[in-house]
Amino acid sequence: MSQQSNAPQRESFSGRRAFIFAAIGSAVGLGNIWRFPYVTYDNGGGAFIVPYLIALLTAGIPILFVDYAIGHKYRGSAPLAFRRLNRKFEIFGWWQVLINVIIAIYYAVIIGWAASYTYFSLNNAWGKDPKAFFFGEYLKMSSDVGVGLDFVAGVLLPLIGVWVVVIALLGTGVQKGIGKVSMILMPLLTAMFAILVVYSLFLPGATKGLDALFTPNWSKLAEPSVWIAAYGQIFFSLSICFGIMITYASYLKPKSDLSGTGLVVGFANSSFEILAGVGVFAALGFMAQSMGKEVSEVATSGIGLAFIAFPTIIDQMPVGGALIGVLFFGSLLFAGITSLISILEVIIAAVQDKTYLPRVPATLLVCVPLSLVSIVLFGTTTGLAMLDVLDKFVNSFGIVAVAFVSLVCMVFSGCLKTLSDHVNSVSSLKLGKGWQCVVVLTTILLGYMLISEIIKIAQNGYDSYPTWFLNTFGWGMAIALVVVAAALSLSKWKQEK
Ligand code: ALA
Repeated sequence: MSQQSNAPQRESFSGRRAFIFAAIGSAVGLGNIWRFPYVTYDNGGGAFIVPYLIALLTAGIPILFVDYAIGHKYRGSAPLAFRRLNRKFEIFGWWQVLINVIIAIYYAVIIGWAASYTYFSLNNAWGKDPKAFFFGEYLKMSSDVGVGLDFVAGVLLPLIGVWVVVIALLGTGVQKGIGKVSMILMPLLTAMFAILVVYSLFLPGATKGLDALFTPNWSKLAEPSVWIAAYGQIFFSLSICFGIMITYASYLKPKSDLSGTGLVVGFANSSFEILAGVGVFAALGFMAQSMGKEVSEVATSGIGLAFIAFPTIIDQMPVGGALIGVLFFGSLLFAGITSLISILEVIIAAVQDKTYLPRVPATLLVCVPLSLVSIVLFGTTTGLAMLDVLDKFVNSFGIVAVAFVSLVCMVFSGCLKTLSDHVNSVSSLKLGKGWQCVVVLTTILLGYMLISEIIKIAQNGYDSYPTWFLNTFGWGMAIALVVVAAALSLSKWKQEK
């Protein structure tokens, strides 16, 4: 590794506590509260819990250690750390940076919706038909699929607000911005969410919802798409394989217990996720009971679940509806902000490593163009279809793909041993041969799932979107990430050999 004499000094977290809060803050996000319930629902409800837990133990935690080791040992943003691991691997770092570019632009808009709905909760602004309100009055969703420039003020303004807040936080720096805000928001979020879940569990019909969540439908386990959804969810939710944990670990002090910290972060994230599932399904059970229907009949599948089911539930509550709304959408807002800053930090760190720009100019250089793209694509009447396709393809063919390809290269080049040696040199819990075997098996499984999913989507399309739309914003985007990453990895680094 070469020394960077002219490089600005690398920022760091004040200690392990700040890092743990930041890492949990990154992991616990929209993925836990907004994505997990609808992915669970779309993939057979209770049946999904089994692959989800297997994915956590075989991929989530073991790969979290890989990310920590790369970031901590090589102390760089994703492209630089991968390059220092092996010069040929720099492309994986850029691929991950670009994945974050895509996620950031749609992630911000959902946080914007959550901000609007926190406010709407105060007076049930969605009225008697939350579905019509969400798609119609709020998003003003166009029936055309494409890119229109028909802006929707109610979506645009909170979206701008979200970008202003995250730019301000990121401009403040790693410890003062990311570390401090996570240490304030995460305890607050946990308290808010705990009240929400306990309240939901006491609602009449809650057990009906929990039955739907925890009764496995074993036949679903034969479908590869259920497994890829589970692994995709774990990667997204735990913030692994897209550069976040590499970047955050690079800000850890040299003597830091990596494996112990990883276990805390991994289990905290999944506990939060299961808690979110319990809260959402208990509330769905209540909704089903009040309407005299089955849980499967009341929940709208897909990305609107949180924004349709929860308002409907709040409408049915005799008392405390506004409080529940503020707690639910406020949690979504806080969880989203701490994750969005981690997503953007991956890009900012890469730009800083490459250009040596100080933090504020680097933050602006990254966030201003991204916020403009986010506003143009998602502040309009055509935003929802785009969001759905980008989310699906960037997860299945971005995160899972880079995870598979990079792990294959790491396995064949013998890097796993180097990485486990590093973890063992600083951690109390040692990684043995068993860890390497699990990583190899997971890599094989990922390859199988990836290929099955490519074949499935290539043959059947996705969710009845037109082919040109999928080819451009789905496949086209996923391929463009690799091509641009390859181009970026050819450019020179100051002072790196
Ligand atoms: N890990 C973040 C989430 O769950 C990205 O939303």
